Amino acid sequence: MAALTVRVLGLEFRNPIVLASGPAGFGLELAEHYDLGKVGALTTKTVTPEPRSGNPQPRLVDAPSGALNSIGLQNPGCDALQAELLPQVRDFPTRRIVSIAGRSPEEVGALADRLSDEPGIDALEVNLSCPNVQGDTVADDPKSVRAFVQAVRTATRRPILAKLPGDGDYLKLVDAALGAGADGIVLINALRGMRIDTHTGRPILARGVGGLCGPAILPMALARIFEARKAFPDATIVGTGGVSDLRSVLEMMCAGADLVGIGFAVMADPERVFGLEDELRTWMATRGIAAVSDLRGIAHRGGIDVR
Ligand code: SIN
Repeated sequence: MAALTVRVLGLEFRNPIVLASGPAGFGLELAEHYDLGKVGALTTKTVTPEPRSGNPQPRLVDAPSGALNSIGLQNPGCDALQAELLPQVRDFPTRRIVSIAGRSPEEVGALADRLSDEPGIDALEVNLSCPNVQGDTVADDPKSVRAFVQAVRTATRRPILAKLPGDGDYLKLVDAALGAGADGIVLINALRGMRIDTHTGRPILARGVGGLCGPAILPMALARIFEARKAFPDATIVGTGGVSDLRSVLEMMCAGADLVGIGFAVMADPERVFGLEDELRTWMATRGIAAVSDLRGIAHRGGIDVR
Protein backbone atom coordinates (compact mmCIF):
# COMPACT_ATOMS: atom_id res chain seq x y z
CA MET A 1 0.00 0.00 0.00
CA ALA A 2 1.21 3.53 -0.81
CA ALA A 3 2.99 5.16 2.18
CA LEU A 4 1.48 8.54 2.96
CA THR A 5 3.51 9.25 6.06
CA VAL A 6 5.89 12.21 6.15
CA ARG A 7 8.77 12.46 8.65
CA VAL A 8 9.87 16.02 9.34
CA LEU A 9 10.49 18.16 12.45
CA GLY A 10 11.39 14.96 14.31
CA LEU A 11 7.76 13.85 13.99
CA GLU A 12 5.79 11.44 11.88
CA PHE A 13 2.76 12.90 10.12
CA ARG A 14 0.09 10.46 8.96
CA ASN A 15 -0.15 12.23 5.61
CA PRO A 16 1.07 15.55 4.17
CA ILE A 17 -2.26 17.37 4.54
CA VAL A 18 -2.16 20.12 7.19
CA LEU A 19 -5.16 22.25 8.15
CA ALA A 20 -3.61 25.71 7.98
CA SER A 21 -4.12 28.27 10.69
CA GLY A 22 -7.36 30.23 10.39
CA PRO A 23 -10.42 28.64 8.84
CA ALA A 24 -10.17 25.48 10.95
CA GLY A 25 -10.32 27.56 14.16
CA PHE A 26 -9.32 25.18 16.95
CA GLY A 27 -10.78 22.20 15.13
CA LEU A 28 -13.76 21.87 17.47
CA GLU A 29 -16.55 22.40 14.91
CA LEU A 30 -14.76 20.31 12.29
CA ALA A 31 -14.32 17.47 14.79
CA GLU A 32 -18.10 17.25 15.15
CA HIS A 33 -18.50 16.40 11.46
CA TYR A 34 -15.20 14.99 10.21
CA ASP A 35 -12.52 12.56 11.30
CA LEU A 36 -9.49 14.70 12.11
CA GLY A 37 -7.45 11.50 11.85
CA LYS A 38 -7.75 11.90 8.07
CA VAL A 39 -5.36 14.85 8.05
CA GLY A 40 -1.69 14.96 9.01
CA ALA A 41 -2.03 17.95 11.33
CA LEU A 42 -4.29 20.71 12.59
CA THR A 43 -2.84 24.19 12.99
CA THR A 44 -4.85 26.29 15.42
CA LYS A 45 -6.00 29.82 14.81
CA THR A 46 -3.16 32.15 15.78
CA VAL A 47 -3.25 32.94 19.49
CA THR A 48 -1.85 36.10 21.07
CA PRO A 49 -1.15 36.66 24.79
CA GLU A 50 -4.35 38.69 25.21
CA PRO A 51 -7.77 38.08 23.60
CA ARG A 52 -8.28 40.11 20.41
CA SER A 53 -11.57 41.02 18.79
CA GLY A 54 -10.01 41.56 15.37
CA ASN A 55 -10.81 44.15 12.74
CA PRO A 56 -14.16 45.90 12.23
CA GLN A 57 -16.72 44.45 9.81
CA PRO A 58 -16.92 43.94 6.90
CA ARG A 59 -13.89 41.72 6.97
CA LEU A 60 -14.66 39.06 4.39
CA VAL A 61 -15.46 39.59 0.72
CA ASP A 62 -15.37 37.30 -2.28
CA ALA A 63 -12.81 37.61 -5.04
CA PRO A 64 -12.35 35.80 -8.34
CA SER A 65 -11.33 32.23 -7.37
CA GLY A 66 -10.97 33.06 -3.71
CA ALA A 67 -11.76 35.57 -0.99
CA LEU A 68 -10.27 38.51 0.82
CA ASN A 69 -10.18 38.30 4.58
CA SER A 70 -9.38 40.95 7.11
CA ILE A 71 -9.92 39.08 10.36
CA GLY A 72 -7.08 40.76 12.21
CA LEU A 73 -5.99 37.88 14.44
CA GLN A 74 -9.26 37.63 16.35
CA ASN A 75 -8.62 35.00 19.01
CA PRO A 76 -9.55 34.19 22.62
CA GLY A 77 -6.05 34.72 24.03
CA CYS A 78 -3.64 32.40 25.78
CA ASP A 79 -5.59 31.99 29.04
CA ALA A 80 -8.59 30.60 27.15
CA LEU A 81 -6.34 28.48 24.96
CA GLN A 82 -4.83 26.84 28.02
CA ALA A 83 -7.98 26.58 30.13
CA GLU A 84 -10.64 25.69 27.55
CA LEU A 85 -9.22 24.81 24.17
CA LEU A 86 -6.05 22.81 24.64
CA PRO A 87 -7.77 20.22 26.86
CA GLN A 88 -9.93 19.40 23.82
CA VAL A 89 -7.35 19.96 21.07
CA ARG A 90 -4.81 17.65 22.65
CA ASP A 91 -7.16 14.67 22.25
CA PHE A 92 -7.52 15.08 18.49
CA PRO A 93 -6.18 12.06 16.57
CA THR A 94 -3.74 14.13 14.53
CA ARG A 95 -0.63 16.25 15.03
CA ARG A 96 -1.39 19.59 16.73
CA ILE A 97 0.46 22.73 15.74
CA VAL A 98 -0.33 25.79 17.85
CA SER A 99 0.05 29.09 16.01
CA ILE A 100 1.22 32.06 18.06
CA ALA A 101 1.92 35.75 17.50
CA GLY A 102 2.92 38.71 19.61
CA ARG A 103 3.72 42.40 19.36
CA SER A 104 7.39 41.95 20.16
CA PRO A 105 9.98 39.18 20.33
CA GLU A 106 9.72 39.30 24.13
CA GLU A 107 5.95 38.88 24.00
CA VAL A 108 5.98 35.94 21.62
CA GLY A 109 8.90 34.36 23.49
CA ALA A 110 6.93 34.58 26.73
CA LEU A 111 3.95 33.00 24.99
CA ALA A 112 6.08 30.09 23.80
CA ASP A 113 7.40 29.73 27.33
CA ARG A 114 3.88 29.61 28.80
CA LEU A 115 3.05 26.79 26.42
CA SER A 116 6.25 24.84 26.88
CA ASP A 117 4.87 22.47 29.54
CA GLU A 118 1.45 22.02 27.93
CA PRO A 119 1.03 18.43 26.77
CA GLY A 120 -0.31 17.60 23.33
CA ILE A 121 1.39 20.33 21.32
CA ASP A 122 3.59 18.85 18.60
CA ALA A 123 4.99 22.10 17.21
CA LEU A 124 4.60 25.88 17.37
CA GLU A 125 3.93 28.04 14.35
CA VAL A 126 5.16 31.61 14.80
CA ASN A 127 2.90 33.77 12.66
CA LEU A 128 5.08 36.63 11.42
CA SER A 129 3.07 37.54 8.35
CA CYS A 130 -0.59 38.33 9.03
CA PRO A 131 -1.54 40.88 6.34
CA ASN A 132 -4.37 42.25 8.48
CA VAL A 133 -2.64 43.79 11.47
CA GLN A 134 -0.40 46.77 11.84
CA GLY A 135 2.70 47.20 13.89
CA ASP A 136 5.18 44.87 15.43
CA THR A 137 3.20 41.64 15.08
CA VAL A 138 4.45 41.42 11.49
CA ALA A 139 8.11 40.76 10.79
CA ASP A 140 8.83 41.92 7.27
CA ASP A 141 12.58 42.31 7.35
CA PRO A 142 15.29 39.78 8.14
CA LYS A 143 16.34 41.51 11.35
CA SER A 144 12.90 41.34 12.93
CA VAL A 145 12.29 37.79 11.69
CA ARG A 146 15.56 36.80 13.35
CA ALA A 147 14.60 38.51 16.62
CA PHE A 148 11.15 36.89 16.82
CA VAL A 149 12.40 33.41 15.96
CA GLN A 150 15.35 33.64 18.33
CA ALA A 151 13.03 34.64 21.18
CA VAL A 152 10.84 31.60 20.58
CA ARG A 153 13.87 29.33 20.12
CA THR A 154 15.21 30.41 23.49
CA ALA A 155 11.87 29.72 25.14
CA THR A 156 11.03 26.27 23.80
CA ARG A 157 12.54 22.98 22.67
CA ARG A 158 9.48 22.25 20.57
CA PRO A 159 9.78 22.31 16.76
CA ILE A 160 9.21 25.85 15.46
CA LEU A 161 7.68 26.75 12.11
CA ALA A 162 7.98 30.38 10.99
CA LYS A 163 4.99 31.52 8.92
CA LEU A 164 6.28 33.99 6.36
CA PRO A 165 4.76 36.23 3.74
CA GLY A 166 4.91 35.62 0.00
CA ASP A 167 5.43 39.32 -0.69
CA GLY A 168 8.71 41.20 -0.72
CA ASP A 169 12.14 39.66 -0.42
CA TYR A 170 10.81 36.49 1.12
CA LEU A 171 13.90 34.31 0.49
CA LYS A 172 15.87 36.60 2.79
CA LEU A 173 13.17 36.10 5.43
CA VAL A 174 13.38 32.33 5.00
CA ASP A 175 17.13 32.52 5.45
CA ALA A 176 16.74 34.67 8.57
CA ALA A 177 14.14 32.33 10.11
CA LEU A 178 16.18 29.18 9.52
CA GLY A 179 19.37 30.88 10.67
CA ALA A 180 17.68 31.95 13.91
CA GLY A 181 16.69 28.40 14.77
CA ALA A 182 13.34 27.73 13.09
CA ASP A 183 12.96 24.05 12.26
CA GLY A 184 10.93 24.87 9.18
CA ILE A 185 8.87 27.49 7.41
CA VAL A 186 5.26 27.92 6.38
CA LEU A 187 5.07 29.73 3.06
CA ILE A 188 2.99 31.68 1.95
CA ASN A 189 0.48 33.68 3.97
CA ALA A 190 -2.43 35.44 2.22
CA LEU A 191 -1.35 38.17 -0.19
CA ARG A 192 -2.46 41.79 0.23
CA GLY A 193 -5.44 42.62 -1.92
CA MET A 194 -8.50 44.88 -2.19
CA ARG A 195 -12.00 45.08 -3.64
CA ILE A 196 -14.00 48.26 -4.28
CA ASP A 197 -17.75 48.77 -3.90
CA THR A 198 -18.65 50.38 -7.22
CA HIS A 199 -21.83 51.94 -5.74
CA THR A 200 -19.81 53.97 -3.27
CA GLY A 201 -16.35 53.95 -4.79
CA ARG A 202 -14.96 52.85 -1.44
CA PRO A 203 -13.04 49.71 -0.44
CA ILE A 204 -15.43 46.96 0.70
CA LEU A 205 -13.35 45.79 3.63
CA ALA A 206 -13.54 48.16 6.58
CA ARG A 207 -9.77 48.15 6.80
CA GLY A 208 -9.43 48.69 3.06
CA VAL A 209 -6.83 46.03 2.33
CA GLY A 210 -7.11 42.36 3.24
CA GLY A 211 -5.43 39.04 2.59
CA LEU A 212 -6.25 37.28 -0.67
CA CYS A 213 -6.61 33.53 -0.22
CA GLY A 214 -8.02 30.64 -2.24
CA PRO A 215 -7.15 29.15 -5.64
CA ALA A 216 -6.37 32.64 -7.00
CA ILE A 217 -3.00 32.60 -5.23
CA LEU A 218 -1.93 29.02 -6.00
CA PRO A 219 0.43 29.90 -8.88
CA MET A 220 2.14 32.57 -6.78
CA ALA A 221 2.50 30.16 -3.87
CA LEU A 222 3.92 27.43 -6.12
CA ALA A 223 6.58 29.74 -7.55
CA ARG A 224 7.69 30.73 -4.06
CA ILE A 225 7.78 27.15 -2.77
CA PHE A 226 9.78 26.18 -5.85
CA GLU A 227 12.27 29.00 -5.29
CA ALA A 228 12.52 28.34 -1.56
CA ARG A 229 13.19 24.64 -2.13
CA LYS A 230 15.87 25.49 -4.67
CA ALA A 231 17.56 27.91 -2.28
CA PHE A 232 17.15 25.72 0.83
CA PRO A 233 17.29 22.08 -0.29
CA ASP A 234 17.19 20.66 3.25
CA ALA A 235 14.63 22.96 4.88
CA THR A 236 11.27 21.69 6.08
CA ILE A 237 8.65 23.55 4.07
CA VAL A 238 4.91 23.62 4.67
CA GLY A 239 3.53 24.88 1.36
CA THR A 240 0.32 26.85 1.69
CA GLY A 241 -1.66 29.17 -0.55
CA GLY A 242 -4.58 28.27 -2.76
CA VAL A 243 -4.51 24.52 -2.23
CA SER A 244 -7.99 23.13 -2.76
CA ASP A 245 -7.83 19.72 -4.42
CA LEU A 246 -5.62 16.73 -5.17
CA ARG A 247 -3.94 18.41 -8.10
CA SER A 248 -2.87 21.41 -6.04
CA VAL A 249 -1.59 19.15 -3.24
CA LEU A 250 0.53 17.27 -5.78
CA GLU A 251 1.75 20.51 -7.34
CA MET A 252 2.88 21.80 -3.94
CA MET A 253 4.81 18.61 -3.20
CA CYS A 254 6.41 18.52 -6.64
CA ALA A 255 7.48 22.16 -6.18
CA GLY A 256 9.19 21.22 -2.93
CA ALA A 257 6.75 21.18 -0.01
CA ASP A 258 7.14 18.46 2.64
CA LEU A 259 3.70 19.18 4.04
CA VAL A 260 0.80 20.99 2.38
CA GLY A 261 -1.32 23.51 4.25
CA ILE A 262 -4.97 24.03 3.34
CA GLY A 263 -6.85 27.10 4.53
CA PHE A 264 -9.60 28.65 2.39
CA ALA A 265 -10.75 25.24 1.05
CA VAL A 266 -11.54 24.12 4.60
CA MET A 267 -14.26 26.79 4.61
CA ALA A 268 -15.29 26.33 0.99
CA ASP A 269 -15.39 22.53 0.72
CA PRO A 270 -14.43 20.64 3.91
CA GLU A 271 -15.83 17.39 2.51
CA ARG A 272 -13.24 17.48 -0.21
CA VAL A 273 -10.39 18.31 2.15
CA PHE A 274 -11.17 15.33 4.37
CA GLY A 275 -11.37 13.11 1.29
CA LEU A 276 -7.90 14.08 0.07
CA GLU A 277 -6.09 11.31 1.91
CA ASP A 278 -8.07 8.65 0.03
CA GLU A 279 -7.68 10.52 -3.26
CA LEU A 280 -3.93 10.76 -2.75
CA ARG A 281 -3.59 7.08 -1.88
CA THR A 282 -5.55 6.05 -4.98
CA TRP A 283 -3.54 8.40 -7.20
CA MET A 284 -0.25 6.98 -5.90
CA ALA A 285 -1.41 3.38 -6.25
CA THR A 286 -2.50 3.80 -9.86
CA ARG A 287 0.89 5.33 -10.72
CA GLY A 288 2.97 2.89 -8.71
CA ILE A 289 4.41 5.57 -6.40
CA ALA A 290 5.37 3.84 -3.19
CA ALA A 291 6.00 6.79 -0.85
CA VAL A 292 4.50 10.27 -0.90
CA SER A 293 7.83 11.73 0.17
CA ASP A 294 9.25 10.59 -3.21
CA LEU A 295 7.19 13.40 -4.77
CA ARG A 296 8.88 16.14 -2.75
CA GLY A 297 10.66 18.52 -5.06
CA ILE A 298 10.58 16.35 -8.16
CA ALA A 299 9.90 19.43 -10.29
CA HIS A 300 13.56 20.23 -9.58
CA ARG A 301 14.71 16.82 -10.77
CA GLY A 302 13.07 16.46 -14.14
CA GLY A 303 9.72 15.29 -12.78
CA ILE A 304 8.03 11.93 -13.27
CA ASP A 305 5.65 10.61 -15.81
CA VAL A 306 2.57 12.28 -14.27
CA ARG A 307 -0.59 11.74 -16.29
C1 SIN B 1 -6.19 37.07 10.22
O1 SIN B 1 -6.50 36.74 11.37
O2 SIN B 1 -6.31 38.22 9.81
C2 SIN B 1 -5.63 36.05 9.30
C3 SIN B 1 -4.42 35.40 9.87
C4 SIN B 1 -3.26 35.46 8.97
O3 SIN B 1 -3.40 35.70 7.77
O4 SIN B 1 -2.14 35.28 9.44
